[in-house]
Amino acid sequence: RVGRVIVVGSLNVDSTAYVRGFPAPGETITAHGLRIALGGKGTNQAVAAQRFGAEVGLLARVGDDANAHLARDTLAGFGLAVDGLGIEPDAPTGVALITVADSGENTVIVASGANERMSPAVVDEARERIAAAAAVLTQGELPVGTIERLAAVAREAGTRFVLNLAPPVAVSGEALAAADPLVVNEHEARAVGIEPGVHDDESELDGWLVAASAAVARGLACSVVVTLGAAGAVAAEASAIASRGDLESSGDAAESVVAWAQPSLDVTPVDSTGAGDGFTGTLAAALAAGHPLVDAVRFATAAGALAVQQRGTVDSYADRDAVIAAAAALETAS
Ligand code: RIB
Ligand code: NA
Repeated sequence: RVGRVIVVGSLNVDSTAYVRGFPAPGETITAHGLRIALGGKGTNQAVAAQRFGAEVGLLARVGDDANAHLARDTLAGFGLAVDGLGIEPDAPTGVALITVADSGENTVIVASGANERMSPAVVDEARERIAAAAAVLTQGELPVGTIERLAAVAREAGTRFVLNLAPPVAVSGEALAAADPLVVNEHEARAVGIEPGVHDDESELDGWLVAASAAVARGLACSVVVTLGAAGAVAAEASAIASRGDLESSGDAAESVVAWAQPSLDVTPVDSTGAGDGFTGTLAAALAAGHPLVDAVRFATAAGALAVQQRGTVDSYADRDAVIAAAAALETAS
């Protein structure tokens, strides 16, 4: 099962307008660019995992419409099998309406459509494939019951459960506790109670380190990765798994937890849409290949930094060699 990743994922077609600045309510503005391309957090993560060399199975739902054709063509172009794409004849393929400003910031509206039909039965039907994989990966864009079922089935099968709680939906404590890791950005972290204390800017990273290790110490998740944009990421896990001499266990949370910061590359962002998905897909692929979390987070950080420098989501992901080359420039700070 080494290297095999099953993504139980969301799929959208992204309509992205590139604008100088965001419109105010009631205002009409003209975009200076338009892109219509495959997106959705699950699909993006599946492509990123595949680009990093994982053998990926994507389970998703599309409608019976032109966007479904675009989805299949794009996935096939990346060498991903489309047999896991179920068709919902009476629901539209999910669509995301995105604006990207010249500053690199974006806004996103997701109309879920067929993604809402990703029921727990999809997970039940895939039990054998899940058991034969090294890792399963899912996101907050799917129905909560489906995420929870995947957590349970993965645990039963002994398959690593990677959960990107984006957006931060209310899944059970049991599902969160199974996440190894739980991958969240700052906003999503706060939504599940991973909160840094009040700090000045310089010690903000320390605040996140303490918060992430405290979350692991109290069993919120098996392991936690908080992505911090340009500041990189922090991660925490039980130290029995990550006994590395150059990582210090955090005394105040629990002796048994190790936490570290992973700085990012200094890059100029062009389009951050899907950069988090590039991070998460790469992370899951690296873990499935047997890399320890510390190395997987370094590869993921490099993948995310490369993705923000290109427009779009799936088209902005670098291949394995480019990610590994970029990661070589990164140090892991304890
Ligand atoms: O994370 C980026 C993705 O979020 C976009 O591709 C869009 O489809 C939304 O799901
Ligand atoms: Na991008």
